[in-house]
Amino acid sequence: MSEPTIGVFEVEDRSFPPPPAFAGAALANDRALYDEAEIDYEAFWARQARELLTWHKDFDTTLEWELPFAKWFVGGQLNVTENCLDRHVEAGRGDKVAYHWEGEPGDRVTITYAELLTEVKKFANVLKDQGLEKGDRVAIYMPMILELPIAMLACARIGVAHSVIFGGFSADAIVDRCVDAEARLIVTADAGYRRGAAAALKPTVDEALASGAPSVERVIVVNRCDTAPAMVEGRDLWWHDVMANASEDCPAEPMDSEQLLYLLYTSGTTAKPKGIMHTTGGYLAQVAFTHKYTFDIKPETDVYWCAADIGWVTGHSYIVYGPLTNGMTSVMYEGTPDTPGKDRLWDIVERYGVTQLYTAPTAIRMFMKWGAQEPAKHDLSTLRVLGTVGEPINPEAWMWYHEHIGGSSRPIVDTWWQTETGGHMISPLPGVTTTKPGSACHPIPGVFAELVDDAGNKVEVGGGYLTITRPWPSMLRGIWGDPERYRDTYWSTYEGKYFAGDGAKLDSDGYLWLLGRVDDVMNVSGHRISTTEVESALVDHPAVAEAAVVGATDELTGQAIVGYVILRGTHEASDALGNEIREHVGLKLGKIARPKTVIIVPDLPKTRSGKIMRRLLRDVADGRVLGDTTTLADPGVVAEIANRAAENDDD
Ligand code: PRX
Repeated sequence: MSEPTIGVFEVEDRSFPPPPAFAGAALANDRALYDEAEIDYEAFWARQARELLTWHKDFDTTLEWELPFAKWFVGGQLNVTENCLDRHVEAGRGDKVAYHWEGEPGDRVTITYAELLTEVKKFANVLKDQGLEKGDRVAIYMPMILELPIAMLACARIGVAHSVIFGGFSADAIVDRCVDAEARLIVTADAGYRRGAAAALKPTVDEALASGAPSVERVIVVNRCDTAPAMVEGRDLWWHDVMANASEDCPAEPMDSEQLLYLLYTSGTTAKPKGIMHTTGGYLAQVAFTHKYTFDIKPETDVYWCAADIGWVTGHSYIVYGPLTNGMTSVMYEGTPDTPGKDRLWDIVERYGVTQLYTAPTAIRMFMKWGAQEPAKHDLSTLRVLGTVGEPINPEAWMWYHEHIGGSSRPIVDTWWQTETGGHMISPLPGVTTTKPGSACHPIPGVFAELVDDAGNKVEVGGGYLTITRPWPSMLRGIWGDPERYRDTYWSTYEGKYFAGDGAKLDSDGYLWLLGRVDDVMNVSGHRISTTEVESALVDHPAVAEAAVVGATDELTGQAIVGYVILRGTHEASDALGNEIREHVGLKLGKIARPKTVIIVPDLPKTRSGKIMRRLLRDVADGRVLGDTTTLADPGVVAEIANRAAENDDD
């Protein structure tokens, strides 16, 4: 394992206790939840599950733990959508707004809980009409429009697992995921708006299905942008056509606690993404609990906004399942933060009176670059809690968020978690925790973390590897179709402990500072990208013989992808070829995985045993000003690599 690569923080001695007025009115303002969980964490989670969720049948066993396989709330039965929708409607809150949705061009739709329930029932019936049955999988490849949560919830209503594929991914990525999950149907849209233009989606699905994924029988297409995509006779159906006659009658079926709710593919250290499995009862209990206490929600008055994309786990847990279970009014936004102006987010916050804002450090750094005059144009005084997720937040960005968005008086919750953990794991509670800029602080009540050294010994103060020592309700239940990989990846590095893949530091006050991945996974703008996956896309280009990829430090995006490539035989290095190679990766994997820089080199530094010396390549990349394009291996780089390789040969 390599050393943590991001942000070796200076000692940070600023600290921010919860503002007294905030703490006074907060859902949690003392250590009671921590103490309760410390005494008996199973009983603690059982209480949360019973209080936060509505069960058809109560569970009889809180946890069955056969390391590394967990079952939570065994014997219990519930339906996710009944928790997210029916029970709010039945309690007389059907007219309450579920989402204030805003399209990038400025179109707006407000949907109530009752309306959302009707749409979900109708689409669940559409899925049934198409022959989908409990236990099947449906892939969803959509922009941030309301039909996306409707499709997810419709699946959940009838026990079909969804597999949402981020709209920025490529045709190959769709094929891989649909093949692995044996998806029977894809829900998509013709396109979605990004930076003022329609970004096509349906043609990418067509391309995917032309090359593979034979399990897919049907494609249902939402008409978002009127781009009139080609429709394949007998395979493709318009959303508006199938919904037109769909019945509104679809009772919620009780599901076992451990019924598969969804798969979400994420990058690991190999070229093949892993289908992370999340199930029903434990997942919903933890996302409801964390959403409630991390953001100190007051569903009667708050307007909550998680500005993530539902294509990632943050959107699953904190745009869809957590907020709806808790009966929140949320904002959902389709587009980019700089369209039409760089104050789009702040305009939205002001117009809807947003009370909780949840975003990523990369976005905050971008807002910093755009300048404090943008948020200053708007009244942000409704904000009560600010959240961050996805990557370590540097103290400067934390302070900027605090001052310019939070008016120096709102608590910031820096939430550490992963696709695999399903919900928050390490985070302040805003009415309880004294925060330090850049620290995710402590595990939440009911979660137990430990830092260990290489040998697996507990680290009390200093740097180490982050592990989770006890099962938690929303933990992944496995990797789809690959139990051994699940065991190997997460549970074999340190016996009996979940290995998160992150490095961290514990300071002398017991605060945790996340330092970034310690495996071959990069974090670019809060998105996980595997070096191996990018390397295989690079060598897939006919001109590339060998490739090595590293995540270099980047001021804006945390890390940036740098690919070092050796060309095949007669190919000549040129800017044009380098760019073509970059674009090739974009086509293979999607734009987010396109290297920022491709450096064409005559050779790669390797250890005597033939292992590529990535750390050295990262150092070389870090020492350079990276352009947004190709960098040919100028003699300096080559010499540097060669020299450094020689120096490090005994590593
Ligand atoms: O390295 C950690 C980083 O993001 C990884 C998980 O990525 P993903 O599964 O895509 O989920 C992202 C959204 C939950 C982690 O292994 N990470 C996430 N949150 C933080 C973080 N690193 C530092 N601080 C955080 N708050």
